[in-house]
Amino acid sequence: MNRLQSASGAMAFPGTARRYDGLAIFFHWAVFLLIAAAYAAIELKGFAGKGTPARSLTMAAHEGAGVLVLALAVPRLLWRLVRGAPAAEPGPRWMQRAGGAMHWVLYLFIVAQPVLGLLALNAGGHVLALPALGIEIPALVGPDQALKNQVKEIHETLGTAFYLVIGLHAMAALFHHYMLGDNTLRRMWRR
Ligand code: HEM
Ligand code: HEM
Repeated sequence: MNRLQSASGAMAFPGTARRYDGLAIFFHWAVFLLIAAAYAAIELKGFAGKGTPARSLTMAAHEGAGVLVLALAVPRLLWRLVRGAPAAEPGPRWMQRAGGAMHWVLYLFIVAQPVLGLLALNAGGHVLALPALGIEIPALVGPDQALKNQVKEIHETLGTAFYLVIGLHAMAALFHHYMLGDNTLRRMWRR
């Protein structure tokens, strides 16, 4: 039997105790793809002329991908609270703490950012329809121009700031993999 001796002396099966479970891995990479799609769509929108079908399409893609992030982020967060996470890879304590704090900041972002987007849309007097799924998301608030301006500004500032935060998170993962040579990326990649 292929078994490992852990640092504490206890026997552990490789590929189980120190890894994320399949659902956590699915949530992580599905949310990553949807966030990449939301960012790509809003960037592409900048290239489309005002009032063109391309502009409506890119905005609809941004809102659709964004709201699907929320649809996955909520069960993902609940799953994380129920299941917990594998213990951090061995390393300096500050690095483990920084990684842990960064993860909670990212969880907050994947829930708050789509909610802010929805609020901005609803306060602007629109509701989000998802024709592909045949549903309409009920408005969270009624039309309110002042609220719309405030929330939109926060949504845009957070959206810009998180290019950097997500970039740092991804760089940290690659640093662990290629420079420290530990298991951090592998355990979030596949079971
Ligand atoms: C995690 C999901 C989301 C991310 C990462 C995100 C990110 C962004 C970014 C980066 C911008 C552009 C900021 C700028 O121009 O400086 C933006 C704009 C905007 N987003 Fe989102 N967003 C998300 C979800 C949503 C959702 C769910 C909605 C609405 C249902 C939404 C509605 C909007 C609106 C109305 C704008 C302003 C567009 C404009 O007037 O140019 N977003 N978002
Ligand atoms: C939209 C982009 C991303 C978001 C919102 C995000 C979010 C998160 C969150 C919340 C966790 C904590 C998981 C938990 O403990 O429950 C996590 C872990 C992780 N992420 Fe990301 N992530 C993103 C992109 C990436 C990318 C691009 C990479 C790789 C290049 C990556 C690699 C990892 C790895 C390796 C872990 C596990 C860390 C550990 O075991 O301590 N993530 N991510």
